[in-house]
Amino acid sequence: MRIAVFASGSGTNLQAIIDAVEDGKLDAEIGLVLSNKSDAYALKRAIVHHIPDVYISSKDFNHRDEFVNEMIGILDEHNIDFIALAGYLRKVPPEVVEKYRNRITNIHPALLPSFGGKGMYGIRVHRAVLEYGCKVTGVSVHIVDNEYDHGAIVAQRCVPVNEQDTPETLAKKVLAIEHRLYPEVLQWFAQGRVHICGRLVRVV
Ligand code: GRF
Repeated sequence: MRIAVFASGSGTNLQAIIDAVEDGKLDAEIGLVLSNKSDAYALKRAIVHHIPDVYISSKDFNHRDEFVNEMIGILDEHNIDFIALAGYLRKVPPEVVEKYRNRITNIHPALLPSFGGKGMYGIRVHRAVLEYGCKVTGVSVHIVDNEYDHGAIVAQRCVPVNEQDTPETLAKKVLAIEHRLYPEVLQWFAQGRVHICGRLVRVV
């Protein structure tokens, strides 16, 4: 499996995936790191690990179709057969979702379908969880479709919320679980163990 990791930010999940590959825990190659931010730290991580890195933003194209064709061209050029979103703060174009149907995952720092959707990212998620008074939060890995944080759920892990928690402490605890879960889920895909039937995902 040749994975492209899409990331807009610091890329700690990307790092966890790189580490899993290098430690032999994930039978995949990272063929590309793609970002919509030219200064994303994720791109620097790619360079350090000799992984092809690409910056591409729709803002630099006059027409949407040109952007989408360019993105598909880049994915083809790097022989990508799976896409892992890891803090990618843009919608994946529907043409790409279609081409990679059931082969794009995203990781979200809450238990979907709660606390997801447009604008629900980063510290805002954890703030909302605390303001709602939740006693538990967690991590979701799901298939990407054309709605934010909406596709079939592949795996979830719980994280207890304590009275002393702040958005920052919660973020830290959740992120630590993300780093364990995402490489594990990608390994299930690499091993061909994930079967998707509508919203229902079975891991065999
Ligand atoms: C993570 O919390 C992930 O769940 C969300 O964006 C964040 C990315 O963090 N989709 P990082 O860039 O991997 O450190």
